[in-house]
Amino acid sequence: MIQLSRSKRKLEHIRHALSREDLGMNSFDEMEIIHQSLTDIHWDDISLQTQLGELTLSSPLFVNAMTGGGGEKTESINRELAIAAKETGIALAVGSQMSALKDAKERRSYEIVREENPDGIIFANIGSEATLDQAKEAVDMLKADALQIHLNVLQELIMPEGDRDFSGRLRQIEEIVENMEIPVIIKEVGFGISMETARQLKNVGVSYIDVAGQGGTNFSKVENKRRKQPFESFNQWGIPTAISVKEVKSVFPEAHVLASGGMRNGLDGAKAFVLGAKGFGMAGHLLRILMKDDIETLIAEIDHIHHEFQIAMMVLGAKDTYMLDGKPHIFTGRTKSWLEQRLPS
Ligand code: FNR
Repeated sequence: MIQLSRSKRKLEHIRHALSREDLGMNSFDEMEIIHQSLTDIHWDDISLQTQLGELTLSSPLFVNAMTGGGGEKTESINRELAIAAKETGIALAVGSQMSALKDAKERRSYEIVREENPDGIIFANIGSEATLDQAKEAVDMLKADALQIHLNVLQELIMPEGDRDFSGRLRQIEEIVENMEIPVIIKEVGFGISMETARQLKNVGVSYIDVAGQGGTNFSKVENKRRKQPFESFNQWGIPTAISVKEVKSVFPEAHVLASGGMRNGLDGAKAFVLGAKGFGMAGHLLRILMKDDIETLIAEIDHIHHEFQIAMMVLGAKDTYMLDGKPHIFTGRTKSWLEQRLPS
Protein backbone atom coordinates (compact mmCIF):
# COMPACT_ATOMS: atom_id res chain seq x y z
CA MET A 1 0.00 0.00 0.00
CA ILE A 2 2.76 2.44 1.01
CA GLN A 3 4.75 1.40 -2.03
CA LEU A 4 1.79 1.92 -4.36
CA SER A 5 1.15 5.41 -3.07
CA ARG A 6 4.87 6.26 -3.31
CA SER A 7 5.02 5.19 -6.99
CA LYS A 8 1.85 7.11 -7.70
CA ARG A 9 3.32 10.21 -6.05
CA LYS A 10 6.48 10.03 -8.18
CA LEU A 11 4.47 9.79 -11.39
CA GLU A 12 2.26 12.69 -10.26
CA HIS A 13 5.41 14.74 -9.60
CA ILE A 14 6.59 14.12 -13.14
CA ARG A 15 3.21 15.01 -14.63
CA HIS A 16 2.79 18.23 -12.64
CA ALA A 17 6.44 19.26 -12.89
CA LEU A 18 6.27 19.04 -16.66
CA SER A 19 3.43 21.49 -17.05
CA ARG A 20 4.83 24.66 -18.67
CA GLU A 21 2.54 26.96 -16.69
CA ASP A 22 4.87 26.35 -13.72
CA LEU A 23 7.62 28.44 -15.26
CA GLY A 24 7.52 31.95 -13.84
CA MET A 25 10.01 34.79 -13.69
CA ASN A 26 13.65 33.79 -14.23
CA SER A 27 16.44 35.78 -12.59
CA PHE A 28 18.83 35.14 -15.50
CA ASP A 29 16.57 37.37 -17.62
CA GLU A 30 17.58 40.18 -15.25
CA MET A 31 21.30 39.62 -15.75
CA GLU A 32 23.17 40.73 -18.85
CA ILE A 33 26.74 39.81 -19.69
CA ILE A 34 28.46 42.74 -21.40
CA HIS A 35 29.33 41.96 -25.00
CA GLN A 36 33.01 42.11 -25.98
CA SER A 37 34.02 42.63 -29.62
CA LEU A 38 37.61 41.42 -29.64
CA THR A 39 38.37 37.81 -28.87
CA ASP A 40 41.82 36.34 -29.19
CA ILE A 41 41.05 32.63 -29.21
CA HIS A 42 40.37 29.89 -31.74
CA TRP A 43 37.09 27.99 -31.46
CA ASP A 44 38.98 24.68 -31.44
CA ASP A 45 41.07 25.71 -28.43
CA ILE A 46 38.04 26.14 -26.16
CA SER A 47 37.58 23.47 -23.49
CA LEU A 48 34.24 22.85 -21.81
CA GLN A 49 35.89 20.96 -18.98
CA THR A 50 35.21 22.25 -15.48
CA GLN A 51 36.87 21.59 -12.16
CA LEU A 52 34.31 21.18 -9.41
CA GLY A 53 36.48 20.79 -6.35
CA GLU A 54 37.86 17.25 -6.53
CA LEU A 55 35.71 16.36 -9.54
CA THR A 56 36.82 16.96 -13.11
CA LEU A 57 33.74 17.21 -15.31
CA SER A 58 34.08 17.15 -19.10
CA SER A 59 31.03 19.41 -19.42
CA PRO A 60 29.68 22.28 -17.32
CA LEU A 61 26.16 20.80 -17.63
CA PHE A 62 24.69 17.97 -15.57
CA VAL A 63 21.29 16.29 -15.39
CA ASN A 64 19.89 17.08 -11.97
CA ALA A 65 18.07 14.65 -9.68
CA MET A 66 14.63 13.55 -10.78
CA THR A 67 13.26 10.07 -10.83
CA GLY A 68 13.84 6.71 -9.21
CA GLY A 69 11.75 4.04 -7.58
CA GLY A 70 8.21 4.05 -8.81
CA GLY A 71 8.33 1.06 -11.17
CA GLU A 72 8.80 0.56 -14.90
CA LYS A 73 8.03 4.06 -16.06
CA THR A 74 10.71 5.72 -13.92
CA GLU A 75 13.14 2.92 -14.77
CA SER A 76 12.75 3.62 -18.47
CA ILE A 77 13.15 7.39 -17.91
CA ASN A 78 16.35 6.82 -15.91
CA ARG A 79 17.67 4.46 -18.55
CA GLU A 80 17.16 7.06 -21.28
CA LEU A 81 18.64 9.87 -19.18
CA ALA A 82 21.69 7.69 -18.52
CA ILE A 83 22.14 6.94 -22.23
CA ALA A 84 21.82 10.63 -23.13
CA ALA A 85 24.33 11.55 -20.40
CA LYS A 86 26.77 8.94 -21.68
CA GLU A 87 26.42 10.00 -25.34
CA THR A 88 27.04 13.66 -24.48
CA GLY A 89 29.61 13.16 -21.72
CA ILE A 90 27.66 14.96 -19.00
CA ALA A 91 27.24 14.02 -15.35
CA LEU A 92 23.91 12.78 -14.04
CA ALA A 93 22.24 12.78 -10.63
CA VAL A 94 19.63 10.15 -9.85
CA GLY A 95 16.43 10.96 -7.95
CA SER A 96 16.11 10.36 -4.23
CA GLN A 97 17.22 6.83 -3.34
CA MET A 98 15.40 6.86 0.01
CA SER A 99 12.73 4.50 -1.34
CA ALA A 100 15.36 1.98 -2.52
CA LEU A 101 17.08 2.11 0.87
CA LYS A 102 13.81 1.04 2.46
CA ASP A 103 12.70 -1.46 -0.18
CA ALA A 104 15.27 -3.46 -2.20
CA LYS A 105 12.74 -4.03 -5.03
CA GLU A 106 13.10 -0.35 -5.88
CA ARG A 107 16.85 -0.53 -6.49
CA ARG A 108 16.52 -1.54 -10.12
CA SER A 109 15.49 1.89 -11.45
CA TYR A 110 18.69 3.39 -9.98
CA GLU A 111 21.13 0.58 -10.78
CA ILE A 112 20.15 0.78 -14.43
CA VAL A 113 21.83 4.20 -14.55
CA ARG A 114 25.26 2.76 -13.71
CA GLU A 115 24.65 -0.22 -16.01
CA GLU A 116 23.95 2.05 -18.97
CA ASN A 117 26.73 4.48 -18.14
CA PRO A 118 29.53 2.45 -16.54
CA ASP A 119 32.26 5.09 -16.81
CA GLY A 120 30.25 8.31 -16.45
CA ILE A 121 30.08 10.70 -13.51
CA ILE A 122 27.04 9.82 -11.41
CA PHE A 123 25.69 11.55 -8.30
CA ALA A 124 23.77 9.56 -5.70
CA ASN A 125 20.86 11.34 -3.97
CA ILE A 126 19.36 11.08 -0.49
CA GLY A 127 17.23 13.20 1.83
CA SER A 128 18.66 15.01 4.85
CA GLU A 129 16.93 12.48 7.11
CA ALA A 130 19.36 9.76 5.92
CA THR A 131 21.87 8.24 8.30
CA LEU A 132 25.55 7.76 7.53
CA ASP A 133 24.94 4.05 6.81
CA GLN A 134 22.16 4.92 4.38
CA ALA A 135 24.40 7.49 2.69
CA LYS A 136 27.09 4.83 2.19
CA GLU A 137 24.57 2.33 0.85
CA ALA A 138 23.18 4.88 -1.62
CA VAL A 139 26.69 5.57 -2.93
CA ASP A 140 27.56 1.86 -3.17
CA MET A 141 24.34 1.15 -5.07
CA LEU A 142 25.63 3.27 -7.96
CA LYS A 143 29.37 3.34 -7.38
CA ALA A 144 28.65 7.05 -7.30
CA ASP A 145 31.28 9.74 -7.82
CA ALA A 146 29.53 12.23 -5.52
CA LEU A 147 26.56 12.27 -3.16
CA GLN A 148 23.78 14.84 -3.22
CA ILE A 149 21.77 15.49 -0.06
CA HIS A 150 18.59 17.40 -0.79
CA LEU A 151 16.97 19.93 1.53
CA ASN A 152 13.25 20.20 0.78
CA VAL A 153 11.50 21.47 3.89
CA LEU A 154 8.90 23.56 2.08
CA GLN A 155 8.05 20.75 -0.33
CA GLU A 156 7.53 18.32 2.56
CA LEU A 157 5.33 20.82 4.41
CA ILE A 158 3.04 21.36 1.44
CA MET A 159 3.01 17.63 0.63
CA PRO A 160 0.01 16.14 2.46
CA GLU A 161 1.99 13.03 3.45
CA GLY A 162 5.30 14.93 3.92
CA ASP A 163 7.73 14.95 6.87
CA ARG A 164 7.09 17.25 9.79
CA ASP A 165 10.17 16.63 11.94
CA PHE A 166 13.39 18.21 10.71
CA SER A 167 15.26 18.29 13.98
CA GLY A 168 18.91 17.22 14.00
CA ARG A 169 19.31 17.41 10.21
CA LEU A 170 22.39 19.67 10.19
CA ARG A 171 24.13 17.32 12.62
CA GLN A 172 23.36 14.35 10.31
CA ILE A 173 24.78 16.26 7.35
CA GLU A 174 27.93 17.02 9.35
CA GLU A 175 28.42 13.35 10.18
CA ILE A 176 28.00 12.30 6.56
CA VAL A 177 30.34 15.00 5.23
CA GLU A 178 32.98 14.05 7.81
CA ASN A 179 32.87 10.36 6.93
CA MET A 180 32.39 10.16 3.16
CA GLU A 181 35.36 9.84 0.85
CA ILE A 182 33.63 11.44 -2.12
CA PRO A 183 32.27 14.98 -2.50
CA VAL A 184 28.98 15.62 -0.68
CA ILE A 185 26.81 18.20 -2.45
CA ILE A 186 24.04 19.86 -0.46
CA LYS A 187 21.19 20.91 -2.72
CA GLU A 188 17.77 22.52 -2.56
CA VAL A 189 14.91 21.46 -4.83
CA GLY A 190 13.93 24.82 -6.35
CA PHE A 191 13.79 27.29 -3.44
CA GLY A 192 17.47 28.33 -3.39
CA ILE A 193 20.14 28.48 -0.69
CA SER A 194 20.43 31.74 1.27
CA MET A 195 23.62 33.26 2.65
CA GLU A 196 22.48 32.28 6.16
CA THR A 197 22.04 28.63 5.16
CA ALA A 198 25.38 28.71 3.32
CA ARG A 199 27.06 29.92 6.52
CA GLN A 200 25.48 27.08 8.52
CA LEU A 201 26.61 24.55 5.93
CA LYS A 202 30.12 25.99 5.88
CA ASN A 203 30.31 25.70 9.67
CA VAL A 204 29.71 21.94 9.52
CA GLY A 205 32.32 21.32 6.82
CA VAL A 206 30.21 21.36 3.65
CA SER A 207 32.09 22.67 0.62
CA TYR A 208 29.85 21.69 -2.33
CA ILE A 209 26.51 23.53 -2.72
CA ASP A 210 23.96 23.24 -5.54
CA VAL A 211 21.71 26.26 -5.02
CA ALA A 212 18.72 24.73 -6.91
CA GLY A 213 16.97 28.07 -6.85
CA GLN A 214 13.61 29.43 -7.88
CA GLY A 215 12.80 30.01 -11.54
CA GLY A 216 11.99 26.58 -12.92
CA THR A 217 10.33 23.52 -11.41
CA ASN A 218 8.22 24.82 -8.57
CA PHE A 219 7.45 22.27 -5.87
CA SER A 220 4.97 24.60 -4.14
CA LYS A 221 2.85 24.48 -7.26
CA VAL A 222 3.53 20.78 -7.88
CA GLU A 223 2.48 19.76 -4.38
CA ASN A 224 -0.42 22.22 -4.29
CA LYS A 225 -1.89 20.49 -7.34
CA ARG A 226 -2.10 17.35 -5.23
CA ARG A 227 -3.93 19.07 -2.34
CA LYS A 228 -7.69 19.58 -2.02
CA GLN A 229 -7.03 22.86 -0.22
CA PRO A 230 -3.79 24.29 -1.68
CA PHE A 231 -1.38 26.66 0.07
CA GLU A 232 -1.18 28.98 -2.93
CA SER A 233 0.36 31.79 -0.90
CA PHE A 234 3.66 29.89 -1.16
CA ASN A 235 3.62 29.62 -4.95
CA GLN A 236 6.13 32.47 -5.38
CA TRP A 237 8.35 31.49 -2.42
CA GLY A 238 12.08 31.02 -2.87
CA ILE A 239 15.40 32.60 -3.80
CA PRO A 240 15.89 33.00 -7.55
CA THR A 241 18.87 31.03 -8.87
CA ALA A 242 21.19 33.87 -9.98
CA ILE A 243 20.62 35.61 -6.64
CA SER A 244 21.21 32.44 -4.68
CA VAL A 245 24.59 31.89 -6.37
CA LYS A 246 25.54 35.47 -5.40
CA GLU A 247 24.32 35.01 -1.82
CA VAL A 248 26.26 31.78 -1.31
CA LYS A 249 29.46 33.13 -2.87
CA SER A 250 29.24 36.31 -0.78
CA VAL A 251 29.64 34.48 2.53
CA PHE A 252 31.45 31.37 1.30
CA PRO A 253 33.66 32.41 -1.65
CA GLU A 254 35.69 29.19 -1.63
CA ALA A 255 32.57 26.96 -1.91
CA HIS A 256 32.27 24.77 -5.00
CA VAL A 257 28.96 26.08 -6.29
CA LEU A 258 26.61 24.46 -8.77
CA ALA A 259 23.81 26.56 -10.27
CA SER A 260 20.46 24.98 -10.95
CA GLY A 261 16.78 25.82 -10.85
CA GLY A 262 15.17 27.08 -14.05
CA MET A 263 18.27 26.78 -16.25
CA ARG A 264 16.96 26.85 -19.83
CA ASN A 265 19.95 27.10 -22.16
CA GLY A 266 23.69 27.41 -22.49
CA LEU A 267 23.62 31.17 -22.01
CA ASP A 268 21.93 30.78 -18.57
CA GLY A 269 24.75 28.34 -17.80
CA ALA A 270 27.44 30.80 -18.93
CA LYS A 271 25.83 33.54 -16.79
CA ALA A 272 26.03 31.21 -13.78
CA PHE A 273 29.75 30.69 -14.46
CA VAL A 274 30.23 34.47 -14.66
CA LEU A 275 28.79 34.56 -11.11
CA GLY A 276 31.31 31.94 -9.98
CA ALA A 277 29.47 28.62 -10.45
CA LYS A 278 31.54 25.62 -11.54
CA GLY A 279 28.68 23.63 -13.07
CA PHE A 280 24.99 24.04 -13.96
CA GLY A 281 22.20 21.53 -13.64
CA MET A 282 18.95 21.03 -15.50
CA ALA A 283 16.06 18.85 -14.39
CA GLY A 284 12.66 19.96 -15.69
CA HIS A 285 13.85 21.27 -19.07
CA LEU A 286 15.56 17.99 -20.03
CA LEU A 287 12.76 15.77 -18.72
CA ARG A 288 10.20 17.80 -20.62
CA ILE A 289 12.08 17.20 -23.90
CA LEU A 290 12.51 13.48 -23.22
CA MET A 291 8.82 13.01 -22.40
CA LYS A 292 7.51 15.13 -25.27
CA ASP A 293 9.97 13.92 -27.92
CA ASP A 294 12.60 11.21 -27.67
CA ILE A 295 16.15 10.43 -26.66
CA GLU A 296 17.63 11.66 -29.99
CA THR A 297 15.96 15.05 -29.48
CA LEU A 298 17.30 15.17 -25.94
CA ILE A 299 20.85 14.43 -27.12
CA ALA A 300 20.53 17.11 -29.82
CA GLU A 301 19.34 19.61 -27.19
CA ILE A 302 22.31 18.87 -24.91
CA ASP A 303 24.69 19.34 -27.87
CA HIS A 304 22.94 22.63 -28.61
CA ILE A 305 23.33 23.78 -24.99
CA HIS A 306 27.06 22.97 -25.19
CA HIS A 307 27.30 24.93 -28.41
CA GLU A 308 25.59 27.98 -26.86
CA PHE A 309 27.86 27.83 -23.84
CA GLN A 310 30.87 27.72 -26.14
CA ILE A 311 29.64 30.76 -28.12
CA ALA A 312 29.45 32.72 -24.85
CA MET A 313 32.99 31.58 -23.96
CA MET A 314 34.29 32.61 -27.39
CA VAL A 315 32.70 36.07 -27.28
CA LEU A 316 34.03 36.65 -23.77
CA GLY A 317 37.53 35.46 -24.68
CA ALA A 318 37.42 32.55 -22.20
CA LYS A 319 39.37 29.52 -23.39
CA ASP A 320 38.66 27.64 -20.17
CA THR A 321 35.42 27.64 -18.18
CA TYR A 322 36.96 29.12 -15.02
CA MET A 323 37.90 32.21 -17.06
CA LEU A 324 34.21 33.17 -17.26
CA ASP A 325 34.21 33.96 -13.53
CA GLY A 326 33.76 37.69 -12.92
CA LYS A 327 33.36 38.76 -16.57
CA PRO A 328 31.63 42.19 -16.76
CA HIS A 329 27.86 42.00 -16.22
CA ILE A 330 24.92 43.97 -14.86
CA PHE A 331 21.62 43.22 -13.09
CA THR A 332 18.27 44.85 -13.70
CA GLY A 333 14.80 44.93 -12.10
CA ARG A 334 13.87 42.86 -9.07
CA THR A 335 17.19 40.97 -9.11
CA LYS A 336 19.14 44.23 -8.88
CA SER A 337 16.93 45.50 -6.08
CA TRP A 338 17.27 42.22 -4.13
CA LEU A 339 21.06 42.22 -4.44
CA GLU A 340 21.30 45.87 -3.38
CA GLN A 341 19.41 45.10 -0.17
CA ARG A 342 21.08 41.82 0.65
CA LEU A 343 24.61 42.44 -0.59
CA PRO A 344 25.28 46.15 -0.16
CA SER A 345 28.77 46.91 -1.47
C1 FNR B 1 12.99 16.71 -8.84
N1 FNR B 1 13.97 17.19 -7.97
C2 FNR B 1 14.55 16.33 -7.06
N2 FNR B 1 15.64 16.70 -6.34
C3 FNR B 1 16.25 15.85 -5.48
O1 FNR B 1 17.27 16.21 -4.89
N3 FNR B 1 15.75 14.58 -5.30
C4 FNR B 1 14.65 14.14 -5.98
O2 FNR B 1 14.23 13.00 -5.82
C5 FNR B 1 14.01 15.03 -6.89
N4 FNR B 1 12.90 14.64 -7.60
C6 FNR B 1 12.43 15.42 -8.63
C7 FNR B 1 11.46 14.93 -9.51
C8 FNR B 1 11.04 15.68 -10.59
C9 FNR B 1 10.02 15.13 -11.53
C10 FNR B 1 11.63 16.97 -10.84
C11 FNR B 1 11.24 17.80 -12.03
C12 FNR B 1 12.57 17.46 -9.96
C13 FNR B 1 14.44 18.59 -8.01
C14 FNR B 1 15.48 18.86 -9.08
O3 FNR B 1 16.66 18.13 -8.85
C15 FNR B 1 15.82 20.36 -9.16
O4 FNR B 1 16.46 20.76 -7.97
C16 FNR B 1 14.59 21.21 -9.38
O5 FNR B 1 13.70 20.57 -10.25
C17 FNR B 1 14.93 22.56 -9.95
O6 FNR B 1 15.56 22.43 -11.21
P1 FNR B 1 14.79 22.63 -12.62
O7 FNR B 1 13.77 21.54 -12.75
O8 FNR B 1 14.13 23.98 -12.57
O9 FNR B 1 15.86 22.51 -13.66
